[in-house]
Amino acid sequence: MMDTIIRKINIENIDQNIIEEAASILRLGGIVVFPTETVYGLGADAFSKEAAEKIYRAKGRPSDNPLIVHVADQRGLEKVAKNISSQAKVLMKKFWPGPLTLIFEKKEELPLETTGGLTTVAVREPDHTIARVLIKEAGGCVAAPSANISGKPSPTSGKHVVEDMDGKVDMILDGGKAELGLESTILDMTTSPPTLLRPGFITKEMIEEVIGKIQSEEENSNASPRAPGMKYRHYAPKAEMYLVSGEEENVIEKINLLFTENQRKELKTGIISIKEHEKKYPLGSVLIIGRKGSPKEVAGNLYEVLRLFDSEGVDVIYCEVFSESDLGHAIMNRLKKAASYNIIKA
Ligand code: TXA
Ligand code: MG
Repeated sequence: MMDTIIRKINIENIDQNIIEEAASILRLGGIVVFPTETVYGLGADAFSKEAAEKIYRAKGRPSDNPLIVHVADQRGLEKVAKNISSQAKVLMKKFWPGPLTLIFEKKEELPLETTGGLTTVAVREPDHTIARVLIKEAGGCVAAPSANISGKPSPTSGKHVVEDMDGKVDMILDGGKAELGLESTILDMTTSPPTLLRPGFITKEMIEEVIGKIQSEEENSNASPRAPGMKYRHYAPKAEMYLVSGEEENVIEKINLLFTENQRKELKTGIISIKEHEKKYPLGSVLIIGRKGSPKEVAGNLYEVLRLFDSEGVDVIYCEVFSESDLGHAIMNRLKKAASYNIIKA
């Protein structure tokens, strides 16, 4: 255990002293949790292999799982990546700063500890003022995975971060709720056409509108996933989780039935429902994930809901499925992983 400095920081009125304190920790090889528009990141100087190792230790994450390098401008990008294609330039112009991570060939100088041994590097420019000023003050290239303990849902609030990282990191910057709530889209620019490795707010459709057809990891017959992080159990609550799919009324009936069966077995059961169905689950411990018509709201609450059920100590969670179009692709990607692909047909 170490002493963790915890500081609240207001995005509307950023205290430059706090940024300076955090940046100097990073420059000296320490690790600092900071907010981004997607989820909280656990940052280290991208050029320090010792600091990268500290990240793996704090997360309990296997060190072959590469980190995303966060930059604040073009100069930062050029320090870590090479052979940047014109397609990539168009995407960056359109979507940076923002929730899109691009994979390039890495520069020699970037340590292999940062990229989990790969000769490629994932880079993103976050759209969050606190993250941006911190990255600039810290030297321009901050390697950061999501700031959760490996395998747990990503943190979307200061409270989540303190739960997971107090005593394990040098400093936590609590900047309130992460606005989007799901990790960035990851697009591998080293393949032709580029490959979508993780869906997110920047959807496949949005990318294709700019650069034409891309491929998806799922469509590749290639058995070993190219985003190495994808091979681990992910985003998972402690409870056993099931997605229930089918006609709306059947899904509701099925979940209520399963709830009653579990009650007989004395299993504590949680239900994840959309706002519109709140009253249709009279029995269980029900958490509302958002309105059906607002995928943005659902994405923003997803990890919060999983963590709330963890703290309630439920044994089993049932969740309705969502349409997989547009942002629904990212929502269902995370829910399926959280549920270890357990899907019940109603
Ligand atoms: O929104 C986000 O991307 C957040 C915030 C903090 O920026 N970060 C994040 O990092 O989600 P992390 O480490 O939890 O997820 C990064 C994913 C992992 O699955 C990792 O395997 C993959 O990106 N990745 C990183 N570098 C890669 C590379 N060179 N090639 C393929 N996959 C890579
Ligand atoms: Mg993660």
